[in-house]
Amino acid sequence: MSVTLILAIESSCDDTSIAVLRGKTVLSNVVASQLIHEDFGGVVPELASRAHMQNILPVYQKALKIANVQATDLNAIAFTNGPGLMGALLVGVSFAKSLAIALNLPIIQVNHIHAHVLAHLIEGENIENPTFPFLCLTVSGGHTQIVEVKSAKNLNIIGQTIDDAAGEAFDKIAKLLNLPYPGGPVLDKLAQSGDVHKFKFSDPRNGLFDFTFSGLKTSVLYFLQKEIAKNPNFISENLNDICASVQFTIVDALIKQLLKAAKNTKIKNLAIAGGVSANSELRKQMNDLKSLGFNTYIPSFQFCTDNAAMIGIVGYFKFLENDFCDLDILPQAKF
Ligand code: KG4
Ligand code: ZN
Repeated sequence: MSVTLILAIESSCDDTSIAVLRGKTVLSNVVASQLIHEDFGGVVPELASRAHMQNILPVYQKALKIANVQATDLNAIAFTNGPGLMGALLVGVSFAKSLAIALNLPIIQVNHIHAHVLAHLIEGENIENPTFPFLCLTVSGGHTQIVEVKSAKNLNIIGQTIDDAAGEAFDKIAKLLNLPYPGGPVLDKLAQSGDVHKFKFSDPRNGLFDFTFSGLKTSVLYFLQKEIAKNPNFISENLNDICASVQFTIVDALIKQLLKAAKNTKIKNLAIAGGVSANSELRKQMNDLKSLGFNTYIPSFQFCTDNAAMIGIVGYFKFLENDFCDLDILPQAKF
């Protein structure tokens, strides 16, 4: 068994998370989610940075305690270097550097989206890992990509959104329906008892393997304006059906593009990653693909949304290659 101990830090958006991994196994994965943004209907960067500052030390102490590891036993510090909110990233990056200096450890920079994909390589009880090559549909609040994964470091984006991300579409449409932020999980819950075929909206598929979600948002907006003009109570009287129809439109497009990519690349191992992979309709439709002869991989909830364990697994693979970075490294808001 590997004895490499990596401490990983994630602070790219509104979750402060620190994990400890022994090799590919997660010993702890502590996440402090920031609820302060709910009142503003979206993440407020300044508030996110401040909350990371408040959370990071207690989250670090808790992560070490749960892992039952001393800081002096660690072999390296991995951290999210982007993409994300600059002020939020700076907190995690500065914390990583300070620890590295204090403990005389190497630091490893990790791309957040790469980490969502490699979360599938975390090993543990009841976790089935895909073999290479696999296709990963990465769907989060900031990204929507179909990635061909040939190895832990050979990732090729073959499809992506040309505008909004899938999670952003969920959140923005939820806002049109007066639902609280983040809207994705709320919309998902309301969709459970709705009719997925009740309303038709514009198809988010674009070209061969790409997506466009801004058109869908606009089509929902115009549809609601038209219906509300006829019946001011339209939203409240049809909320579950609207949510179910919107959710189905998004998930149907994601699955159809993923299947097309699978056919094109002849890859049978299909995975989903990112916050939207917590979506119940997406999980159901992924499971249904098994009957078509595909192997499907759906991460457990704790590895779907932002977490440091996924940063740690990328850190582990980079550690094996001595892929460290200098202490003068700066975060990158965009990659
Ligand atoms: O990966 P993530 O935690 O953060 C980013 O890197 O963006 O993803 C957050 C996104 C949000 O847009 C949120 O609404 C969406 O994931 N999300 C969901 C569900 N749970 C989280 N969207 C649809 N259904 C869900 N159950
Ligand atoms: Zn994410």
